[in-house]
Amino acid sequence: MQDRINRVIGVLNYKGGTGKTTTVVNLAAGLAMRGVRVLCVDLDPQGSLAAHFGVRYHDSLTDLLLGDAEPQACTYRARENIDILPSDRGMLKAEKELWNMDDMRVARRVLADKLRPADDGYGFVIVDFPPSVTLISQNGLLYISELIIPMHMSHLSVVGTRQVLGTLKAIGHIPDHQVRLLFVLPTLYSGRLRKDREILEQMRHMFGDKLAEPIRENVKLAEAPAHQQTIFEYDPRSNGAEDYTRFVRQVIRADSFFANQIEGIYRRPD
Ligand SMILES: Nc1ncnc2c1ncn2[C@@H]1O[C@H](COP(=O)(O)OP(=O)(O)O)[C@@H](O)[C@H]1O
Ligand SMILES: [Mg+2]
Repeated sequence: MQDRINRVIGVLNYKGGTGKTTTVVNLAAGLAMRGVRVLCVDLDPQGSLAAHFGVRYHDSLTDLLLGDAEPQACTYRARENIDILPSDRGMLKAEKELWNMDDMRVARRVLADKLRPADDGYGFVIVDFPPSVTLISQNGLLYISELIIPMHMSHLSVVGTRQVLGTLKAIGHIPDHQVRLLFVLPTLYSGRLRKDREILEQMRHMFGDKLAEPIRENVKLAEAPAHQQTIFEYDPRSNGAEDYTRFVRQVIRADSFFANQIEGIYRRPD
């Protein structure tokens, strides 16, 4: 792992609607604007990632996992500096076939084995997880090395995050594979609601410096996918754009080696 200079980050929460796909799209967009090459990998059969970017595709992650397709053949350009590896309902078939493999240790590593040799041209790989514990999501966990958990403002969401952290602990026992928690990211935050302020305080207590600054609830973020745009394209002056810009900066700075690379080689972050 030490020789890899790219960062492979998963965006995961077992609950749906916590802002995973929104975070993948806008984190990728913010990094790409700084000149970093990003690959986004969709593990969710709902296929929201390609839809959000407005990318049409033919081959998908299913073809990579089940067939002989090369990663490049299933990878599509979404924007300058952003490629995506899309998913669709075919992933449900992939899930079944993985379960039919003789050796479950091999079945859990298909994604990592196929993608690792192909991903080193990217500064960041960002993986959008499905909201369920599947063999596909286990494949994702054995591929990523850092984790972002987007979390909306409810007590149940705090409980769900404990579940994700439990999974991380289990992964910690797998030899040669470490996943570190990068950030818990509060999403859909309304500072005017006392409930949200209280939950945020609770989260600060639980996660300390792993808690990122919240992404506020912002109608522009909710509208952007229907326009197949990132928040920086749809409304660069919105609160959503401001919050994701700050989050992108936090992610870059969380790895000092990488921060130096970006500040030195790529355009300087603002
Ligand atoms: N900060 C936000 N403010 C308003 N709406 C948001 C915000 N983040 C996400 N959304 C909207 O909430 C819904 C769920 O977000 P999404 O990113 O698709 O979640 P997930 O991928 O976890 O299911 C989407 O309709 C999205 O546009
Ligand atoms: Mg999603």
